[in-house]
Amino acid sequence: MRRTIIAGNWKLNKTTDEAVRFALELKQRVGSVTHCDVIVAPAFVALGEVYRAVKGTSIRVAGQNLFWEASGAYTGEISAPMLRSVGCDHVIVGHSERRQYFGESDETVNKRIKAALQHGLTPIFCVGETLEERESNRTFDVLTRQVVAGLEGIPAGRVAGIVVAYEPVWAIGTGRTATREQAQEAHAFLRALLAEQRGDHVAASCRILYGGSVKPGNVDGLMAQPDIDGALVGGASLDAASFARIVNYGPHASLAG
Ligand code: PGA
Repeated sequence: MRRTIIAGNWKLNKTTDEAVRFALELKQRVGSVTHCDVIVAPAFVALGEVYRAVKGTSIRVAGQNLFWEASGAYTGEISAPMLRSVGCDHVIVGHSERRQYFGESDETVNKRIKAALQHGLTPIFCVGETLEERESNRTFDVLTRQVVAGLEGIPAGRVAGIVVAYEPVWAIGTGRTATREQAQEAHAFLRALLAEQRGDHVAASCRILYGGSVKPGNVDGLMAQPDIDGALVGGASLDAASFARIVNYGPHASLAG
């Protein structure tokens, strides 16, 4: 059984004070859930304090990115050991906003995943097609390229522990969610690709999250799909009640507070 992950990506939102206040509210609402892993990804500067605020609860803390070198003359970058030192155990890699606005490529994604694994961080490896790619029937080609290049040189045993996030670019921050059928189709494709690339065992243990306008109103249908193992939530993770309802998806909904 693959354990569900509900992760909130706070992106460029919340000062440290706001982040800590929000984390304390989340702690009240979802700090003791046991049916899934809850992860929040605040801005780098808030990581340490958010970690301290949620320490000892079910909530884990993730970086939104990392640099592949551990240290050195790389002004403005943050390394895996630095993320570890402030309490992170996960890190988002290759988010489409990084690919779109900050020159992230499949090759740099691969370096970041390797660095994360080397230092004991679980990468949340984001892939997904643009609207143009979907409309020209290139979705599966794009996913194949991103997965093959992103995981290049990483042995099967390591890939099994990676979290993949399928985030169609056209659904991120647009309010336009993939239908549950579209999401399931892409997730099943990704799982089959992982099986082909690294074996059935890896494909069966790898968790594949869906991301792109996940909301309280659509999470239950998405989570009911067999190959959707969780959600990576942007906008709706910035509201405590919404995020709590997403954490308490489907059969857990009566627990939402
Ligand atoms: P969204 O963002 O939920 O606001 O669409 C998802 C993401 O970027 O991970």
